[in-house]
Amino acid sequence: MIPIARPLIAEEEKQAVMEVLNSGIIAAGPKTLEFEKKFASFVGTKYAIATTSGTTAIHLGLLSLGINKDDEVIVPSLSFIASANTILFCNAKPMFCDVDPRTFNIDITKIEQLITSKTKAIMPVHLYGQSADMKPLQEIADKHGLFVIGDAAQAHGATYNDKKIGSFGNLECFSFYPTKNMTTGEGGIITTTDKEIFEKVNSIRNHGREKTKWGYEHDRIGYNYRMTDIAAAIGIEQLKKLPKFNEKRRTNAHYFDEKLKHVETPYVIQKVGHVYHQYTIKYKNRDKLINVLKENKIGYGIYYPKPLHYYSHLKKYGHSDLKISETLSEEIISLPVHPSLEKKDLEKIVKVVNRVCQHPDK
Ligand SMILES: Cc1ncc(COP(=O)(O)O)c(C=O)c1O
Repeated sequence: MIPIARPLIAEEEKQAVMEVLNSGIIAAGPKTLEFEKKFASFVGTKYAIATTSGTTAIHLGLLSLGINKDDEVIVPSLSFIASANTILFCNAKPMFCDVDPRTFNIDITKIEQLITSKTKAIMPVHLYGQSADMKPLQEIADKHGLFVIGDAAQAHGATYNDKKIGSFGNLECFSFYPTKNMTTGEGGIITTTDKEIFEKVNSIRNHGREKTKWGYEHDRIGYNYRMTDIAAAIGIEQLKKLPKFNEKRRTNAHYFDEKLKHVETPYVIQKVGHVYHQYTIKYKNRDKLINVLKENKIGYGIYYPKPLHYYSHLKKYGHSDLKISETLSEEIISLPVHPSLEKKDLEKIVKVVNRVCQHPDK
């Protein structure tokens, strides 16, 4: 079987975990601090705050911006459920924006029509590892006095205008789930250049504690969203390998770009460095392709089979201008692109996909 994703855990990660286990400090401690410093330095920002998951990173990020009851946050309708659920966690409203049919990212031209007096933030999702078009998006945010909180769960190392995602804007939230470009088992991290956001996130992550006070002093409602040193030790080793992992993903993607015929391959905008968390193609007769991939033991993924406004708890936020995400969710399919693929795997995927897709109606 060629899996759709495979975490690459080697001796370095195992040894790092053993060292933490032997040290006696296994919850948040020095390794978490070291990982935060290294991740901040990797993306080129001042602050990084490690969390228990990408979901809790986004939740914390929204809380740190003061997103509250009845506030509105603009978010693309094609994303993982956490992008919208975290807005609901704050009792705020997800305002769904359709996506660009070529990049699958938030359609910049449709953002402004969703802004009301209640809008507080825009949440671009850098889907599949390609940055959203951040310059025009930031211009809209600045014009209307809105925060930008990026869902960078799939975009470790991705760039926009040669700057890494996480090094600009209000804040970005990454996930380290095992299928991601790097992993800590479960985990997440927030990056920001803003000291005030950093301090707030730090406090809310740890039961609302203020750093300057003795323990067990709580100034606000908070959570336990702290990463463990066990996870951070894995993260430190994974981060060293991330540039190589991403390079291999890019090489695999370029091989597919060149060799795949009869399907629409990913469209990449000029100013971005794509990190191919997923290699997603469009194909109208998707069921047929899925059957043949299964027969040939090739993994695949549908990210995502429904736009977010189709879920029952999110239906009331749907509207008539979300057609692209609705159509795309029926046609997109992701092929394995991860760094552990071998040449023979790539050749097999190309051969099978090309054979099926040359006769779309059969
Ligand atoms: C776009 C997106 N947002 C948020 C998340 C949530 O991250 P996690 O699974 O680490 O909570 C994910 C991860 O699956 C994701 O892909």
